[in-house]
Amino acid sequence: MKKINIPDNMTVAVLNAYSGADALSIEQRPIPTPGRNEVLVKVAFAPINPSDLATLKGYYGFKNPTPIVPGGEGSGEVVAAGPGVMANHFLGKKVACTGWGVGGGVWSEYVVKSVKGGVLSLNKSLSLEQGAMSFINPLTASAFIDIAKKEGHDAILLTAAASSLGQMVNRLGRNEGIQIVNVVRRDAQVDLLKAQGADIVLNSNEAGFEQQLHDACHQTNTRLAYDAVAGELTNQVLKAMPQNSKVIVYSSLSQQKVQLSPDQLIFENKMVDGFWLGPWISNQNLIKIMMLWKRAQKQIPNHLKSEIRKIYPIQEVKEAIHDYTSQMTGGKILLRMS
Ligand SMILES: NC(=O)c1ccc[n+]([C@@H]2O[C@H](COP(=O)([O-])OP(=O)(O)OC[C@H]3O[C@@H](n4cnc5c(N)ncnc54)[C@H](OP(=O)(O)O)[C@@H]3O)[C@@H](O)[C@H]2O)c1
Repeated sequence: MKKINIPDNMTVAVLNAYSGADALSIEQRPIPTPGRNEVLVKVAFAPINPSDLATLKGYYGFKNPTPIVPGGEGSGEVVAAGPGVMANHFLGKKVACTGWGVGGGVWSEYVVKSVKGGVLSLNKSLSLEQGAMSFINPLTASAFIDIAKKEGHDAILLTAAASSLGQMVNRLGRNEGIQIVNVVRRDAQVDLLKAQGADIVLNSNEAGFEQQLHDACHQTNTRLAYDAVAGELTNQVLKAMPQNSKVIVYSSLSQQKVQLSPDQLIFENKMVDGFWLGPWISNQNLIKIMMLWKRAQKQIPNHLKSEIRKIYPIQEVKEAIHDYTSQMTGGKILLRMS
């Protein structure tokens, strides 16, 4: 195994119970050794994503027994490689790493990752800050546009549309000639998206919202919606769209159950589906995944860029989470690992 300048111990954020940020502690742990087809990544940056908040509270899609290290994605440099040609190929490379599978979450100074899906090479021209956010949202935004195109939609609806992901989908949609009906919850978010060039942005807290949404969906023939909010909004969206429409629920930011009127499903032939990036990627063939990654890397400086609001050292992870949850729109909060 090759190694370069690696200390014995590392700083790690540890979640001790599924009760939110208060259950996080900062610990020193021995640096792990990569096994066959594994690499050791010196993590540079990791964003705080809504999926990380869900993980902290124990309502994300997987829930290992605590203590766990959270962190769904990040960036860094491969500083050691275990046995295997592929592992050796990554040595010294800038990579994006995912927080699932071997090695677990990436809110850690160092992490071991499998070369089979745990790390992906980053373009040399990309900063490690952008590289840290190059996986989850960019690939999800690309998937949303791919699905829409494959199913023949010229218009789609987005809820929580002022999110980083929503802004990416808007830019990609404009580039592909796909009209976006944006739903947000505050006037400042209407202004933000309009300033970026969005045509249709509706505030769900404004009087007359349901009628406006109905009119926008019928005028644009919008029959596919991506909903990150759930609760009552899912039903409002389903009702607003023409017959034979579909809502894809991909998050539950409201932390409420999806509400549905059975008549929409039965008499209007509408559907509700779900989307989760991990299984969606697993269902694509390797060539498609590599093409998606290559295309996403090219688009990260423009269509798939994430704004950064502030960078905190990992030692201040609780303050960083507090800052993020107090204002999610307007740029990502990054954790710097060393
Ligand atoms: N299923 C998947 O595979 C997948 C993959 C990627 C992302 N996602 C989901 O996509 C969503 C956006 O992610 P992101 O990283 O782009 O988020 P982000 O940049 O952190 O922004 C979150 C946005 O959600 C809004 N929001 C929060 N709670 C809300 C509520 N109850 N009702 C309406 N809006 C609400 C925030 O508005 P305020 O500023 O007003 O709070 C903010 O605009 C998240 O829900 C995330 O989990 C899912």
